[in-house]
Amino acid sequence: MIDVIELLRTLTRLRNTRLHLGVSGSVACYKSADLLRHLLACGIHVSATLSGGAKHFVSPLLFSSLGAAPVYPEMFTGEEPFAHLEPGQTCQALLVAPASASLLSRMATGAASDMLSAQILAFAGPVAVAPAMNTLMWSNAATQANVALLKKRGIHLVGPDCGDLACGSTGHGRLAPMAWLLAHALRLLSPQDMAEEDVLVTLGPTREPWDGVRFWSNPSTGTMGASLALCAWMRGARVHAVAGPGVDTHLLPPLPGLTLHPVRTAGEMLDQALELWPSVTMGMFTAAVADFSPVPFGAAKFKKADAPEGFSVSFTPNADILLTLSSSRTGRQKVLGFAAETTASEAELMDLAKAKCARKQADVLAANRVNAEDSGFGSPTNAMAVVSRTGREEAWPVQSKMDVAWDLCSWLLQS
Ligand code: CTP
Repeated sequence: MIDVIELLRTLTRLRNTRLHLGVSGSVACYKSADLLRHLLACGIHVSATLSGGAKHFVSPLLFSSLGAAPVYPEMFTGEEPFAHLEPGQTCQALLVAPASASLLSRMATGAASDMLSAQILAFAGPVAVAPAMNTLMWSNAATQANVALLKKRGIHLVGPDCGDLACGSTGHGRLAPMAWLLAHALRLLSPQDMAEEDVLVTLGPTREPWDGVRFWSNPSTGTMGASLALCAWMRGARVHAVAGPGVDTHLLPPLPGLTLHPVRTAGEMLDQALELWPSVTMGMFTAAVADFSPVPFGAAKFKKADAPEGFSVSFTPNADILLTLSSSRTGRQKVLGFAAETTASEAELMDLAKAKCARKQADVLAANRVNAEDSGFGSPTNAMAVVSRTGREEAWPVQSKMDVAWDLCSWLLQS
């Protein structure tokens, strides 16, 4: 099953943007080489500067060999006299991972005594730091005061996480997990055109219990919904993801402003969505909601011996969550719907998309053929027929669900 790092790596919409990666002294330095590889996989240009402390742990050659360009030398040692100003002129964002206590202190005081500190001081774009250090160093009043000051100045904080530390102790100070680092890096590079939006996303399957151990469901993995949640979050939105079983932090990690609401049944999904609906500006309905629930046998396990000749199960209809919310919207709430179809042709798919868009009162509706290769349940890619309430219609070729999600966010913003 695809995880969030693999998913984020399939986004190509930030191709050719530039990020400067600062690496300062911590055992966690080796992890930033991995981060570099993930960023390069997205087609992002990455330059890097290692502090003096970082060079005790890893070599600049590691970063240049992996593809960082340029990797800056220490102040007054290279040929370029204004290297300390370059990232500020060429890059859209700067991320320091790991950020040591010493680097945070230099940033807080505005020191420019080394190449990395000087480059940060001369950087006017968005900056994030991912601290990594021993728990006592992290909780020390001096570090906490530095971090509070940096946050007040608009520097984004990524982590730190809590867990085992290289020094043998356990606690806060562990470098943020790779998924958080990569997601934040992509967010720094993204346009913040959804900063005014609060978004509800339904995703994954629902499970309708029949007896104490059996249920009625479908193979949805929540990949399309997670892609939308991540893209909206990267573009500045606050996101509520109402997710069916199987969708957890492997797809949607704990990011500030992204809340996961796990549910099980269609009824629970409806209740959670209804509760959130008045507080959001956009609804994105990707969940493969069970349209029917079996009439339950009971809380106990149904025994084979009770039906030696077989038996029939009856089903009752569930509420249509999308339609319930789209028909009760207030003000400028926008609705994105999906349609999972098994049509024979693309023309037929477009007609079904138009009909479903009108019937569901959606602003934008994206339909895919779940029986087609490279599309549908669990696939990292999708080919879509996309229509809008205003008459726009396009057939999109097979592309990653992250790219599809990025473009659907744009359509919804424009609708
Ligand atoms: N949907 C929903 N609640 C349901 C059923 C569907 O919110 N009980 C939403 C889906 O999340 C999707 C859209 O409605 O955004 C269309 O779902 P789809 O299964 O394609 O269509 P249905 O309305 O179920 O119609 P049909 O099965 O007849 O194609």
